[in-house]
Amino acid sequence: MASKEQTPVVIIGAGVAGLTLATFLRCSGIECIVLERRDRAYLQTVRQRAGVVDARNVQMFARWGLADKLLAGPVAQTIDYRTDGVSRIFNMTGDDASEGRFCTQQMLVNNLLRVLIDEMGGDVRFEASDVTIHNEEGTLPQVSYTDANGAHQITCDYITGCDADRGVSRASIPDGVLTTVTHEFGYAWLAVLVESPVKGHPIMGVSQHGFVAQLPRGPQRSRYYLQCSLTDTAANWPEQRIWEEIRLRMQDDSIENAMVHETDFVPLRSVVHFPMQHGRLFLAGDAAHLVPPTGAKGMNLALFDVDTLSLALVQALREQELSALESYSDTILPRLWRYQEFSAWMTDTMHDAGDPLVNGHFRQMTARARLDELFNSETAARLHSAYQRGMA
Ligand code: PHB
Repeated sequence: MASKEQTPVVIIGAGVAGLTLATFLRCSGIECIVLERRDRAYLQTVRQRAGVVDARNVQMFARWGLADKLLAGPVAQTIDYRTDGVSRIFNMTGDDASEGRFCTQQMLVNNLLRVLIDEMGGDVRFEASDVTIHNEEGTLPQVSYTDANGAHQITCDYITGCDADRGVSRASIPDGVLTTVTHEFGYAWLAVLVESPVKGHPIMGVSQHGFVAQLPRGPQRSRYYLQCSLTDTAANWPEQRIWEEIRLRMQDDSIENAMVHETDFVPLRSVVHFPMQHGRLFLAGDAAHLVPPTGAKGMNLALFDVDTLSLALVQALREQELSALESYSDTILPRLWRYQEFSAWMTDTMHDAGDPLVNGHFRQMTARARLDELFNSETAARLHSAYQRGMA
């Protein structure tokens, strides 16, 4: 016999989206249970992906009274759009003084686990397997799962799927309900985490030899990104080749080899699944959409989703006011498409401007003109800043 219990909200997935949502709900006095298939130690050491919390989301955490507890790391207000080895520092401007922060996904997850579980007594169930969603179209949906103590069933008012692209939440929605729109950019990145800090500004580099970036990942580390072909593999990149290619693309022979912690192969793509809800199941973050990492928006879009969703759930559960929940997907999608466009703009511009063999000489020159505009036109710079800061 499965153990049976009841809670207002079940959250599937304890990544940035699920843990932030659970924390906001607890701050609002709403009980919830988080189900996570990994153990806590795994989550605390998980690989570093996203690195920036944009100004909009720094403000959001401040509004919830959590910014000081959750965020750390240097201010993210400048980018060096280095072109053929020549630095061009872009300063983000805006109507208010709020600033983004370099804060790795891993640091945010660690801080959320500490605040939610250790400080607020939140209910996160690790190593939950066979998570299955039942009756999400009815009024009392259930989530069943198994752990070392046996089988469990939770009856709830709402289920939120925060379990990323390959999780069970979206997969449980019947065929034909969701529309999926996908765009492949046609190339990949080799992502290389190294024991060497960014000196000066974070770098997004245009190069005839292909795109290169260096972005902070904590005080001692950085992550390089190197454009490569979709048919490439991480095995083709021994350490010596990585460093030679970084020096070539940065046009900087003074860069010294450093310890490589991990390499990852990342095909660049965009995906949107909509609507982001089905009955009483709501999708948030990577479960509903993916962006290429070029604009640093993946984690930030997930944070916008859960900010919106937590306020809608609180209204529904506290005041029986359902309108915000019913229009959740319609609220998210217009903004999501604007940030898909921004991420595609960044991706196309940074890659087209570099190696002319990728998309031709014409696109190389128009992409360079677009990049120049950021430094020549106050209007272009303001719009770009608004997207970088998450305020567009
Ligand atoms: C990152 O830290 O991964 C990052 C930062 C700024 C960007 C893109 C990526 O524009």
